[in-house]
Amino acid sequence: MSEQALPKTHNLRIDGARLWSTILETAAFGATPAGGLNRLTLSPEDGQVRDWFRAACEAAGLEVRVDALGTQYALRRGRDMSLPPVACGSHLDTQPTGGRFDGVLGVLAGLEAMRSLNDAGIETEAPLLLVNWTNEEGSRFAPAMMASAAYAGEFTTDEILAKRDAAGITVAEALDAIGYRGDEPVGSQKIGAFVELHIEQGPILEAEGRTIGVVEGGQGIAWFDGSVTGFESHAGTTPMPRRRDALLGLCEIALAAERIALAHGPSAVATIGESVIGAPSRNVVPGRVAFSLDVRDPKSGTLDAVEAELRAALGEIGTRRRLDIDLTRIWRKEPVPFDPGLVAAVESAAESLGLSRRRMVSGAGHDACNLAAKVPAAMIFVPCKDGVSHNESESATQADCAAGADVLLHTLLTLARG
Ligand code: GLV
Ligand code: MN
Ligand code: MN
Ligand code: MN
Repeated sequence: MSEQALPKTHNLRIDGARLWSTILETAAFGATPAGGLNRLTLSPEDGQVRDWFRAACEAAGLEVRVDALGTQYALRRGRDMSLPPVACGSHLDTQPTGGRFDGVLGVLAGLEAMRSLNDAGIETEAPLLLVNWTNEEGSRFAPAMMASAAYAGEFTTDEILAKRDAAGITVAEALDAIGYRGDEPVGSQKIGAFVELHIEQGPILEAEGRTIGVVEGGQGIAWFDGSVTGFESHAGTTPMPRRRDALLGLCEIALAAERIALAHGPSAVATIGESVIGAPSRNVVPGRVAFSLDVRDPKSGTLDAVEAELRAALGEIGTRRRLDIDLTRIWRKEPVPFDPGLVAAVESAAESLGLSRRRMVSGAGHDACNLAAKVPAAMIFVPCKDGVSHNESESATQADCAAGADVLLHTLLTLARG
């Protein structure tokens, strides 16, 4: 392209130092002593960061709306308000022992993009929209990414409002408790395209020394609730062969899940992330154990095969150990391909910025995967230290966050004709 043919925004860059300082500023809401975040969805801390976000958006001249599931939409007007907004964003909730970047980066980079456009006095043809989706993480209310799924029509608003956390509190009650049950019907906010910046949450970019992941899609996810029921008995008097120990059943289930996932490797993964002994006591043989299971793979057929093999293994373990084992699938998200045109727009933004990059599939679930069912969607990844995420030590560099935000800015400019 000749110098003259370059758009006037060609040299525009976000302010990396300002982005970094907002990441540090919002990390005060739900900060843990170990340097991470505990900002479960719809908790008081989530309410605090939402209030901060609304004020920051309004200070940047954006119009903020909240839908019936608490999702926040911040609109930056364009020249042609009849065009659907080009949207970006992610989530501000975290895991109970989460880090400072998962989700946060995508929202704050969107805010930084808006601030940079304001500073440069740039108006886009289409309006821009910045979104904070409610409950991406799924650790308090299952399933994960529930608000974006409702936006895309996968669940009704009432179905989501009725979901309960472990304490029996519904989503509706939790929204009311922090004042975030908004007026806008879910799905009423128009979106023309959705781009989400996120840390990779895996080790590939860092290992290859690349800055940008151009994400082509997300892998499939299946979530299960399980229980093992045996018989509670005296730890001192029940001979080993007579026991019906539910915990030992779960141990075998965990090892079977590992063996089956490995057999479908390297892509398939299976995780038992929660397990609770019913009525735990050090001198009682466990009679009941509840657990969760998370299975993922980029291929739908592999999710089917892993589930079928696991159910066969559960049958065998239950019979041999005289245990009742139940496994209920509570959620399944099919693998999602992103929009090829939007993926190409992300790639050319990275190219025009001279950033090293590679195409990849997301191992984690993201709101963009739900949006893809309704509008063109794509994602931008940046590296995180040692590939670690869902951990308080999660870390990313200021330079990589800024590079990702620049790719986001230039993708938005291409799509919204800035
Ligand atoms: C949520 O962060 C997930 O990807 O499971
Ligand atoms: Mn996330
Ligand atoms: Mn997460
Ligand atoms: Mn996720």
